[in-house]
Amino acid sequence: MSQAVRYERRGSAGVITVDNPPVNALSQAVRQGLMDALAQGRGDSAATALIVIGAGRTFIAGADIKEFGRPLAPPDLNAVIGGLESSAKPTIAAIHGTALGGGLEVALGCHYRVAVPSAQVGLPEVKLGLLPGAGGTQRLPRLIGAKPALDMITSGDFVRAAQAKTLGIIDELVAGDLLEGAIRFAESVATRGTAERRIRDRDDKLADARGSPALFAEYRSAVRKRARGQESPLRCIDAVEAAVNLPFDQGLKRERDIFEELVTSTQARALIHAFFAEREAMNIPDVPATTPTRPIKSAAVIGAGTMGGGIAMNFASAGIPVTVVETAQDALERGLGVVRNNYAGTVAKGRLDQGAMDERMALIKGALDLAAVKDADVVVEAVFEEMAIKKELFAKLDKLAKPGAVLATNTSSLDIDAIAAETKRPQDVIGTHFFSPANVMRLVEVVRGAQTAKDVVATAMRLGKTLGKVPVLVGVCDGFVGNRMIFQYTREAEFLLEEGALPWQVDKALTDWGMAMGVFAMGDMAGNDVGWRIRKQQAASRPNDRRYSHLADQVCEMGRYGQKANAGWYRYDKGSRTPLPDPEIEKLILAESKRLGVTRQTIADDEIVKRTIYALVNEGAKLLEEGIALRSSDIDIIYITGYGFPAWRGGPMFYADTVGLDRVLADVQRFHRTHGYFWRPAPLLEKLAREGKRFSHLGARQS
Ligand SMILES: NC(=O)c1ccc[n+]([C@@H]2O[C@H](COP(=O)([O-])OP(=O)(O)OC[C@H]3O[C@@H](n4cnc5c(N)ncnc54)[C@H](O)[C@@H]3O)[C@@H](O)[C@H]2O)c1
Repeated sequence: MSQAVRYERRGSAGVITVDNPPVNALSQAVRQGLMDALAQGRGDSAATALIVIGAGRTFIAGADIKEFGRPLAPPDLNAVIGGLESSAKPTIAAIHGTALGGGLEVALGCHYRVAVPSAQVGLPEVKLGLLPGAGGTQRLPRLIGAKPALDMITSGDFVRAAQAKTLGIIDELVAGDLLEGAIRFAESVATRGTAERRIRDRDDKLADARGSPALFAEYRSAVRKRARGQESPLRCIDAVEAAVNLPFDQGLKRERDIFEELVTSTQARALIHAFFAEREAMNIPDVPATTPTRPIKSAAVIGAGTMGGGIAMNFASAGIPVTVVETAQDALERGLGVVRNNYAGTVAKGRLDQGAMDERMALIKGALDLAAVKDADVVVEAVFEEMAIKKELFAKLDKLAKPGAVLATNTSSLDIDAIAAETKRPQDVIGTHFFSPANVMRLVEVVRGAQTAKDVVATAMRLGKTLGKVPVLVGVCDGFVGNRMIFQYTREAEFLLEEGALPWQVDKALTDWGMAMGVFAMGDMAGNDVGWRIRKQQAASRPNDRRYSHLADQVCEMGRYGQKANAGWYRYDKGSRTPLPDPEIEKLILAESKRLGVTRQTIADDEIVKRTIYALVNEGAKLLEEGIALRSSDIDIIYITGYGFPAWRGGPMFYADTVGLDRVLADVQRFHRTHGYFWRPAPLLEKLAREGKRFSHLGARQS
């Protein structure tokens, strides 16, 4: 028997323990081990019931990601599950930690399921562009009914043990030791027959769905809206529909066929790419995982504005005490008031209990004297985006912060090296570029300065993880990775308006393509005045440096700063965030085209998508070439987690790879000929296209 699974008898129960650290993934060795242990249990005359349990911190947490994309060596998981289900001795899954994907499918093969209250179950395959391929789509509806099964399978969301019990997934919650509880449970069911417990043979829970044929049509149309172009949730519905309408074995075959289609699809490849890319972002070639990190037990945040408040919440939510420093009492009170309201909103939604909120609020202290930073292990600066203010502040921090403290700035565009130069410890200075709203958005660009010490890089990356974020390392340049690319994207979108499109057409083309939000709706949400102020500053220092449409300036000159002004590229009814097309804006755009002498033309949606998305790709290639981004998958993760780029397209660089870089280049060259110098193809794009390669062929660049 493989070492990944062992069999032993405890009293009259045969105990099958899966021991494949760290998460008991269903590798070939585990599948084979389960088959062998089951055979042993069946043959053990002293065992009257068989328990499947996980060693370590969890039950089986899913497939083995190392086996992704490869044909699976036998035994097939369906064979393992079929063996558990057909056993004449009752089989019991004893669940702690998480039973996910194939892990839950194994549990559904058992005749009974018991769990500790902290356990969670789920079928998250849909998030990787797949569906549960070992009977999950056939057994779960038979166990709990079609509608709740659809909810779980199409969302991929986890369900906590108590709710799983209510749904009927879990038969009994075990207080205290799981194995002891499972053994007691096994003794209580040992003499019962197993035939009526085989989920494959049940169909009473399917009666409702059979009686309401509209269920699937309605469910499909709701999911189609939510999925915004992603296929797998819809294919999950097909599979559950098969469970309702076909005999079990035919349904299982249908599930298998759909799985085979999905597993080779571009969307699944993209989602699996995104899954690995997020993990890969933590690997920094010259800062190995063994690099010591500085302990972060306390923090200070300077500035209690939009970003400072959200950043302070991140620390408090992670249990790290944080002092927020402001210049004036009213600003401090306003900032902390917003924090309190945000937490209260989460409590009101039932996603946080009052006690936890109180604990978090107790971790946040306010101060008006900068000397309050003196004990902080990390200081995050989030004051106004003005170099003079930041320089002055860092010079002061240098004198006040304790030796070895990490001095971080949340700047979204300024030169970290210039800020670091104000201190005598530039090695301790780093950028931590959180995204707005900082308590919600997962992305943090960790910006490495020329002199930032390796252990400070490692500390900031680990801190990002501790705060529940997705940290991605980038280098210093104007806008870093995300915003430097978004500048090109927005500029193209605005040129499209001059040429013939309207904001709502551009936005619809992009959201139909999969973006979470259109570019103009996004501008209205973030505030159009932010870029306007930056452009005015730049115009003063670097006249005519960059060509851009002046429409955005005109929109701001009209006071149309966006949602906060109830008017921007769209108009907004008071108190509403729904963007409404506005004839005023149409008039403005038509007048601008006329002023420029441009004959407006109809622009097709796919041309809109190419103009905007390829602007991202071309700039991304330049960032790779300059070493500002370490690898193309880092750019993909930045866009998926920070900018609402559809994960099922894998991020801008992965998407370009799937189109083919020669084809992307041909369009970029065409835009260069017709639209101007800023479309100069990135040399890296030209090189890869010439060599028939992809961005994903590049390894990580040494920084
Ligand atoms: N708002 C965003 O969407 C966003 C996103 C990413 C990064 N950023 C960056 O985060 C930083 C903060 O932006 P914001 O939107 O929160 O600004 P904000 O104007 O909302 O808040 C800035 C706060 O800093 C305070 N402040 C100014 N000088 C100070 C000083 N010397 N000491 C203590 N407090 C001081 C101000 O009173 C104000 O409350 C900027 O560098 C900005 O570029 C902003």
